[in-house]
Amino acid sequence: MTGPGTLLATLFRRKSPDEAVADSERPEHALRRTLGAFDLTMLGVGAIVGAGIFSSVGQMAAGSATHPGAGPALIISYLLTAVACGLAALCYAEISALVPVAGSAYTYSYVALGEGVAWIIGWDLIIEYAIGNIYVAQSWADYFRSFLRGAFGVDFPAWMATDLQTAAHTPAIAAAAPHVGHFVVAFNLPAALVVTCLTVLLVVGVRESARVNAVMVTFKLVLVLIFVGVGAFFVKRANYTPFAPNGFSGIWTGASLAFFSYIGFDAVSTAAEETRDPQRNLPRGMIASLIICTVIYIATATVMTGLVPSSLLGTGDPLAHALRLAGLDHLATVMSFGGLIAVTAVLLVFQMGQPRIFLAMSRDGLLPPLFGRVHPRFRTPATGTILTGAFVAVCPTFVTPDQALELTNIGTLFAFVLVSLGVIALRVRDPGRVRPFRCPGYPVTPVLSILACVGLMAGLPPSNWVRFAVWLAVGSVIYLAYGRKHSRLSTGRA
Ligand code: ALA
Repeated sequence: MTGPGTLLATLFRRKSPDEAVADSERPEHALRRTLGAFDLTMLGVGAIVGAGIFSSVGQMAAGSATHPGAGPALIISYLLTAVACGLAALCYAEISALVPVAGSAYTYSYVALGEGVAWIIGWDLIIEYAIGNIYVAQSWADYFRSFLRGAFGVDFPAWMATDLQTAAHTPAIAAAAPHVGHFVVAFNLPAALVVTCLTVLLVVGVRESARVNAVMVTFKLVLVLIFVGVGAFFVKRANYTPFAPNGFSGIWTGASLAFFSYIGFDAVSTAAEETRDPQRNLPRGMIASLIICTVIYIATATVMTGLVPSSLLGTGDPLAHALRLAGLDHLATVMSFGGLIAVTAVLLVFQMGQPRIFLAMSRDGLLPPLFGRVHPRFRTPATGTILTGAFVAVCPTFVTPDQALELTNIGTLFAFVLVSLGVIALRVRDPGRVRPFRCPGYPVTPVLSILACVGLMAGLPPSNWVRFAVWLAVGSVIYLAYGRKHSRLSTGRA
């Protein structure tokens, strides 16, 4: 029998940074190191620029039934969130250079705060990666439909590209959908298909995946530059007044929503074991991708809100919509296609990150060994990649986009808080260790990062907190039933 004293001991047992790195180097788990700073920056931009700036940016500016719009002051919202993410990125950079292994925040917490927190954060990261990708896959399906309609005049049935709850509550969709008894039949076919294709690509190889990603990132960067470059000539000064129609409350809500647009720089850290010279390249890749995206977002927000009055931007394709209203129809259609590509790149990077976190957890014994299997020929975590693919392919049929989006924000902010805490814990416990990258302004930077993230979490709706608490409670039960007993720190397995 294990008493409560032992439970406390297991919750707080820690791995040393050296152990964490040595584990990742064992031949049966070793991944192929092929990525440099440029690849990582591209991966970061690939993960960051997506559904946020191509889609939800419109609602941030215009507002909706549930929240006030920021108006042109959206530019300030993006700046505020960039500062919060920048603080967190500096913390991520320090700790990822210190412990360059695939598990990201999960492994950092194992080293800094102990097994209990590590398990919770690993479980929490499923929210950021897999649940976040449910939203992104849903957004992909929306763009797919609008692209088919715009380019070929084809109307893809809505009940084949949505979730069951939305179908049941939207009369237009329910009327067109087949029924089984009283139940509306609906599923998200485009989301399932795109996730399946990306899963095959990711099983075949990370190098191939990085190449495909680089092509998509280049394409979406060119598109955004065209949007800014051409759109700038059609900006009307009058559209910037009133600058902040809903005052600070609109700006702050805009900042909380803008957070989703920035998620992704941290995903770079999951490629640590496939990176050459990770101590140098990881911080560079993370910080460079965040800076590039901040510049892009502020330029895009400035042009978008200058093209048309902000109140007209509350659509699913605001960049294309703004161009259309400004009389640039052809460019608007190209922009819709760009949205599709941008969102595909985000899907790819997060589908790549999730199995690598599972790999790290399985290596530690907290998840069953099947998640740690590396394909003998491709050297990728194939089983975890396929399981993640199956989950993200099926869930867009059962979860609404709002539910997925809100959970993603709270889960990711929570991970950022723990990483910032981890930086402080490791500096206190192990001050003499060589740090290839030192977070500037310590301890103010990690403390401010924690405060900023908690501030953004506090702004999220209560229903979201309940879902988050349930998720963490389920995770705790799994840990007590499985992870705690099978942990390598319990079994002493080499
Ligand atoms: N930042 C990513 C996006 O906007 C998650 O799609």
